[in-house]
Amino acid sequence: MKKITDRLTAAIMTGMALIAPAYAQAGEGVKVEHLGINNTLVRVTGDKNFIILPIQESIDDAKIDVLVDGKVAETFYARLAQSKTDFTVPYDLSKYKGHNVILNIIANHGRQNIREAKDAVCWQVITLSDTFDTTNTEFKYRPYYHQSPEYGWMNDPNGMVYVNGTWHLFYQWNPYGSKWQNMTWGHATSTDLINWDHHGAAIVPDGLGSIFSGSCVIDRNNTAGFGKDAVIALYTSAAASQIQSLAYSNDNGATFTPYKGNPILTLESEARDPNMFWNDKTKEWNLILAHALDYEMLLFTSPNLKDWTLQSAFGKGLGCQDGVWECPDLFELPVDGTGKKKWALICNINPGGPFGGSATQYFIGDFDGKKFVADTDANGNVPTKWMDFGKDHYATVSWSDTPANRRTVIGWMSNWQYAADVPTTQFRSANTLPRECELFSQPDGQIYLASVPSPELNALRGKVVASSGKKTLSNKAANFSLPSEKNAACEIVADVDAKNASEVTFTISNPKGNKYVMTYNVKQHTISCDRRQSGIVDFSENFPAVTVAPTFEQNGKINLRIFLDSSSVELFTNNGKSVQTNLVFPDEPYTTFSVSSNGKAILDNLKIYAAK
Ligand code: FRU
Repeated sequence: MKKITDRLTAAIMTGMALIAPAYAQAGEGVKVEHLGINNTLVRVTGDKNFIILPIQESIDDAKIDVLVDGKVAETFYARLAQSKTDFTVPYDLSKYKGHNVILNIIANHGRQNIREAKDAVCWQVITLSDTFDTTNTEFKYRPYYHQSPEYGWMNDPNGMVYVNGTWHLFYQWNPYGSKWQNMTWGHATSTDLINWDHHGAAIVPDGLGSIFSGSCVIDRNNTAGFGKDAVIALYTSAAASQIQSLAYSNDNGATFTPYKGNPILTLESEARDPNMFWNDKTKEWNLILAHALDYEMLLFTSPNLKDWTLQSAFGKGLGCQDGVWECPDLFELPVDGTGKKKWALICNINPGGPFGGSATQYFIGDFDGKKFVADTDANGNVPTKWMDFGKDHYATVSWSDTPANRRTVIGWMSNWQYAADVPTTQFRSANTLPRECELFSQPDGQIYLASVPSPELNALRGKVVASSGKKTLSNKAANFSLPSEKNAACEIVADVDAKNASEVTFTISNPKGNKYVMTYNVKQHTISCDRRQSGIVDFSENFPAVTVAPTFEQNGKINLRIFLDSSSVELFTNNGKSVQTNLVFPDEPYTTFSVSSNGKAILDNLKIYAAK
């Protein structure tokens, strides 16, 4: 978006507005009329692109009806500032040029009298502007190489589709605040899975509701009638109920038009997050839909993406049932890179994760185009399997139409337990690194899902800031420097042979005493991540945590790839067989990577690459 030009808005953005003389001009281009303690009209009298709304996060949402020539054109919610402005957000007026625009605002702040209503800071700060500054202000915790929204709240990744060399990523976005609200599909694209361009809103709330999660496909044979190679999005329209809607794009995913016949699928109970794919064996479309409160997934077929036939339900009583089932995915992959193939059914669940809150479980099995049957263990039970054992990996789904049979996934890097409380304001939440799914078998007879960092991420590797060849470890820590720039953003790789040790500990720390401790327990074949002293942890009782994952090795040897960014650590052990993604908010950037062992262990091939 364009840079700020006028002095008034600049003052607001820097937080100077409360005392700056620029306030004399506040309210320029708007006329504020109070109608009572909870109702205010803001008339747009000037002619600019945006109305700038001041937000105070601790305040309840106000309901804002945008009246254009007397008709409600849009309704959204914003935490309009009462006593102080935390930050501002823009509402786009450019589409209403030449029309009369009034914001009819119903506040819900529990005000006592009209005086309190009139005193609200927002009426002094609200103003018009031709530009809105989206320059990053979150230097401490904004990730360097993970996708995050320019501003506002983000949750689930949505509608990921690869079109002509471009990776499209849509996401659950609140353009009017940094907490969950006004669900809209935000849009970002990348050609290298590292650098992301922002494109603002792609699908916005309409009369059927706000725009919840969903998927996109390329309709190569024009089965839906919107044109050959149209990009078709299915999403949940969420209002009093949850129903499924379609939108199409004839410009390769740049812009979408909601289908006039929406909704295309309704049920008598809550269902959401449609994920569809072309089934080349059955020559029809498949759809998997989360029957959220029934803790199961529904499977449909369609010839044309509009008319869907329910074929079966999967999951009642299976796997983890401790929370709502959301954001499904279903895809086929080779096992151990052989000709044998199996299907993986992804089921995001909230709460019920292995360490509390939201997480991603999966089932391995067979799918004939109509029915999914999960593999069982030696006792005939369907085992619960987790895709990532960290606390901050959710709503993970895959890209459609990827090249070279890749199954590339990305997840929301947060947890519903505390996502709205993490110590950032301009934006809340980033996505995980993109990962490639693979299936591997284990001696227990089970097939598991590995998540390998996508090959594009190798391009991130910059200068080697520390390295080591073969080195015998002891209980005295060997220390290595992390990069001194970009909040220490880096990738750490290492091989460890610990067959003659009981434990190996890898610590990321800083002189403030902040530390993130990863411990390989050789006998138990597990690796744990302890973030209890990683920095700021007190914004939620659910944040301090120790997560533990199986290492999936039998010989006391592991390899590690650790991706450290401003506010996250992603640990991939044994080529992505074991993954843990955890957020961290260090008081200052980490400086040191240390390795020690109980018993004799050998470290080899250590390299710390500064992120390019
Ligand atoms: C998962 C989820 C989805 C829903 C979306 C709403 O995080 O609850 O089921 O579509 O978020 O934002």
